[in-house]
Amino acid sequence: MNDRLLHGGDYNPDQWLDYPSILADDIRFMKDAKTNAFSVGIFAWAALEPTEGNFNFQWLDKIMDDIHGFGGKVLLATPSAARPAWLAQKYPEVLRTNNLRQKMLFGARHNHCFSSPVYREKVGIINRKLAERYKNHPALYMWHVSNEYNGECHCEYCRENFRKWLKDKYQTIDNLNHAYWSAFWSHTFNDFSQIDPPSPLGEFAVHNHNLDWKRFISYMTIDFYLNEVAPLKEITPDIPLLTNFMGELFTRGTYPSTGVIHSDFAREVDVVTWDAYPAWHNDYETTAFTASKLAYINDFYRSLKGKPFLILESTPSMVNWHPINRPKRPGMHLLSSLGCVAHGADGIMYFQWRKSRGSSEKFHGAVVDHDNSGSNRVYKDVKELGHVLESIKEIKDTSTPAKVALIYDVENFWALSDAQGFNNIDKQYHQTMHTHYRAFWTQNIPVDVITPDKDLTRYDLVVAPMLYMASKELITKLHSYVKNGGTLVATYMLGIVNENDLVYLGGLPSPLKEIFGINIGETDSLYPTQKNALIMSCGKEYEAFDHCAIFDVLPGTEVLATYGSDFYKGNPALTRNAFDKGQAYFIGPRTGEDFLVDFYSGLIKADLPINGDEEVSIQERRNEKNRYFFVMNYSEEEKEISLETAMEDIITRQEMTAGKHRIKPYGVFVLKH
Ligand code: GAL
Repeated sequence: MNDRLLHGGDYNPDQWLDYPSILADDIRFMKDAKTNAFSVGIFAWAALEPTEGNFNFQWLDKIMDDIHGFGGKVLLATPSAARPAWLAQKYPEVLRTNNLRQKMLFGARHNHCFSSPVYREKVGIINRKLAERYKNHPALYMWHVSNEYNGECHCEYCRENFRKWLKDKYQTIDNLNHAYWSAFWSHTFNDFSQIDPPSPLGEFAVHNHNLDWKRFISYMTIDFYLNEVAPLKEITPDIPLLTNFMGELFTRGTYPSTGVIHSDFAREVDVVTWDAYPAWHNDYETTAFTASKLAYINDFYRSLKGKPFLILESTPSMVNWHPINRPKRPGMHLLSSLGCVAHGADGIMYFQWRKSRGSSEKFHGAVVDHDNSGSNRVYKDVKELGHVLESIKEIKDTSTPAKVALIYDVENFWALSDAQGFNNIDKQYHQTMHTHYRAFWTQNIPVDVITPDKDLTRYDLVVAPMLYMASKELITKLHSYVKNGGTLVATYMLGIVNENDLVYLGGLPSPLKEIFGINIGETDSLYPTQKNALIMSCGKEYEAFDHCAIFDVLPGTEVLATYGSDFYKGNPALTRNAFDKGQAYFIGPRTGEDFLVDFYSGLIKADLPINGDEEVSIQERRNEKNRYFFVMNYSEEEKEISLETAMEDIITRQEMTAGKHRIKPYGVFVLKH
């Protein structure tokens, strides 16, 4: 198993316990569809413990045995993401309280209080039972811990935990008052007991308080997870732990879920995984654009541990919760799945194995549809992917050779979104990150999307768009990166506040001033129809919009472009400063992708023996022996590519000669070099 790419998905047999022939069909189809791994029991608490203290594992024993019977593996779930009715009825404290201090009722899922001692205890009991029962089962492969942790609770336990967390962080109330700038509007606290979480009914305008609450939620979520996994670590120390993270991939930008600090959470799991649901075939962007959004989040999750990750959920056809839900067109399932493998996924799993018969997900795509047949289009697509994943299994554990890092910081996003000023409609941090990312993606230059805690020394180029909130630690890291020979790019909204959301006095913090060789004064935020221009010294002009930093240069800094209009016409708009062994570029205005493509192509080039087209993405994975190129046509037209040398397509095991080749719409090759 360890040499296979995972292929399978969420399997909910607990919905079908009264249908033994369906369960038998499942096992038959799993084998036939070339699937090998299943997340079992994710929402099965009511079937595992129908009444308090009465456990029933017999049905799960059979499923584990049956999956093992055909050589499959189980990512055994802990069931904490949805609770049985008896638990909520007897212990209402497990239910969340919202930010209006209203107690929620039983229902839905992903809505338990992370602090509740009873919930922690009950989760601990069931997890221990699962670990004890299955610790030696040959099908047990990984622990799928809970599901898509998210959300917050404002109950008395959580409020008290928040105060404790603040006390640990600030030690004294004076420190907190300074960090909250609480003299403003007479909000000075005398004691930690006076502090409550942000609420529309009370405090919501102290930015660092809002930030701390978000940081606390992240901390509490991870703390709950650690409580969940304690018995698993004790009883099955060699079984890897994972939980599934999320991503937003729709009309508004694209980004990893913003409810937790992923860099903190990733340290506590053995494998990073996420649930990917792009809206293919929409009417608002090209297929290649959608693909670049998926690629961006894949690169983020891969970079969290700097090693392969898993797509833990995806749909073989369509979802049921996009505004409009379209099935994948022929070819798209293979292409989109291999697109994830190209960016570092070592497995493609689905939500869900079998389409449920009732309730809210009965129309969500699945491998086995209501027709219970192995001959429909979706099933055949899955089976085809199963065959392909087997033929390309040598990809497993290969790495991604990125020399470019794009810094993404969720805390910066929180601070930026809360900042009142500039453009209050949408500061577009996520869209901006993605626009910079695309400038590399369209040129087939691999990128790591990294969190600020990562080491920068292995990168030739580091890009930090809209780094509004910059901690002293990160500033020091950037300084030494450039000093030691790195190339750094930053933009408007750079280094305005510190980690407590307090504005840096004296303008740009001096280490940044030193590396960029600039002094930033005002920022002009433009209405959507207003434009300025960035004019390169060669005369080439690009549109500038939304935000324009107005800044001076210090002696020695080169001005590469100036603004085209308004009172700062002729002022620097793009600069380069050589600092010690490295250099730092500052882009003053927001620009389109056209400028970024030209700009970055002057700094770094793709190193590929294949030439494609803007919509034919080429991504590399490699090991010591081989380079593997995924060549993917994300367009509805046939395209031409050219190979500098002959290579083998490891999907078909056919040799492709040097020279020109056609690639069909949604076509994909995996070439070994
Ligand atoms: C995920 C969730 C799954 C399923 C899926 C539908 O967010 O983890 O349980 O609901 O969405 O797309």
